[in-house]
Parts: sequence; structure tokens; C-alpha cells
Amino acid sequence: MIELKTASEVDACEAAGKIVADVLTAVRAEVAPGVTTGELDALAADLITGAGARPSFLGYHPSWAPVPYPGVICASINDAVVHGIPGRERLRSGDVLSVDLAVHLDGWCADAAFSTLVGGTGDPRDAAMIETAERALAAGVAAAVAGARLGDIAHAIGTVARAGGYGLLDDHGGHGVGRFMHESPSVANEGRPGRGLPLRPGLVIALEPMLQAGGADTYRHDRDGWTIRTSDGSRAAHAEHTIAITEGGPRVLTAGRPTS
Ligand code: MF3
Ligand code: CO
Repeated sequence: MIELKTASEVDACEAAGKIVADVLTAVRAEVAPGVTTGELDALAADLITGAGARPSFLGYHPSWAPVPYPGVICASINDAVVHGIPGRERLRSGDVLSVDLAVHLDGWCADAAFSTLVGGTGDPRDAAMIETAERALAAGVAAAVAGARLGDIAHAIGTVARAGGYGLLDDHGGHGVGRFMHESPSVANEGRPGRGLPLRPGLVIALEPMLQAGGADTYRHDRDGWTIRTSDGSRAAHAEHTIAITEGGPRVLTAGRPTS
């Protein structure tokens, strides 16, 4: 079932989204060579608690996962695409780091992610991939207008990603957001324009292109049961916003999140 949100419910998701954006911005400021992903996780945990919110990932246990998710953020490095578990791993200059975060505030959720080059420099191909993930996300947001369809968003995202030669991720994409972090509908990162669910005001969805440098769409799960890695070892980038469809056009509920 797809639950359209009232104006005040969209506002509530946006209040959660403001915390997500602020915490990601603070995490971004601490990203540097030598820092561990566990330290970034601890920082996020403190800030979320201080803001009166709850980290949505911590303890999340979908049926396919062997254990509940143990982190507050996902921190995915290099060939890790998404769902990297924070821990003792130290960031190195030139790593591609993706940080994903969702929080619940007063019962309502928002979800966002960014990717960046650790130390601010690295392989220009990695910088181009991060920039393309952002452009794919922006294209998806621009297509999220009332009267269009879910396939228009998927098509917009996929077209930008494929034009750069990037792989996507089989069976992974965005999702409805609201009372729960994952709600209907699923939002594919590739699709046919003019097809699928009509976009109506009050629909709140997370758009999240996940790009693979190697061009393949296949992936593998790490032994930790969570981390999703490219099957060819190539690097990956992830960008995500939670948005609402409104009469006045797409409204980004996690505005202010870092973009690189
Ligand atoms: N933003 C991620 C997604 O929508 C959430 C990660 S799942 C978790 O897939 F377990 F880490 F919470
Ligand atoms: Co998401």
C-alpha cells in the first residue's frame, strides 16, 4: 500500500531530514586520512541523540540480513557500494567514502547519503563518478513532478548513469519513506518513461543512485552479511535524498546534505 502524506506529515519528514543533513555535514567535516569509520559513527550517534532523534539503521533487521544492522551510519569505502558497517577501518587519502544516514524524529523518517574523496583529492575518475551520481540524483529529483510517473524518475536517473558508462545495482534502488525507513513504492534506478505509479502530491520517496565504475550491475555481499561490494572490485559512489512530490514541484526534505 502506498500512503500519501499530509502537508504536516511532509513537514515532519523534513524536520527529520534537517537533522540528517546537519549530521551528515558534521560527519563530512571529520572525514580525513587516519580517521576510522567507527569514529564517524560515534560522532553521528552523539549528534542524533543530542537532537532528540533516533538513528533508523541501528538494529534494523530485514529478513535477508543475518544480523541486525550494528551501526548508526553506513560507511562504504571504495568497492563497497552501500551498507558498509562502521568500525576500525582507517580512511586513506584518495579513498571513495559513501556515508548514508536515516533518522526518525517524532515518528517520522528521512534518509540521505553522499560520497566524497578522502583528503579532497584522488583519482579524477573517482571524482567524475561522484559527480555523476549527484547529477543522476538531481535528474531524478527534477523528474519528480506531480502528473509524471515513477518510471520517469527511474529513466532520468538511469540515463545519466548509463551515459557515463557506469553500472547500477541489480534489484537495488530508492524507496518510499515516512513512518518507516522503507515503505512502498520501490524506486528503480533505471526504467521506462511514462510507466509505473503516477506521482501524486504527498508521495515521499528516497532516490538513491548507486554507481559502479566497472560498468557491471552485479554485486556480492561481504562476509559481514551487510556490506555490498562490486563483484569486479571496481569503486562505487552513492548519492541519496528524501523528497516529497508537491503541487509546486519536487521538495527536497534532506536539503543541505553534503554533495561531495
Ligand atoms: N539508506 C539505506 C537504504 O535505503 C539504508 C541502509 S539499510 C541499514 O537502503 F540497515 F543500514 F539500515
Ligand atoms: Co535509502
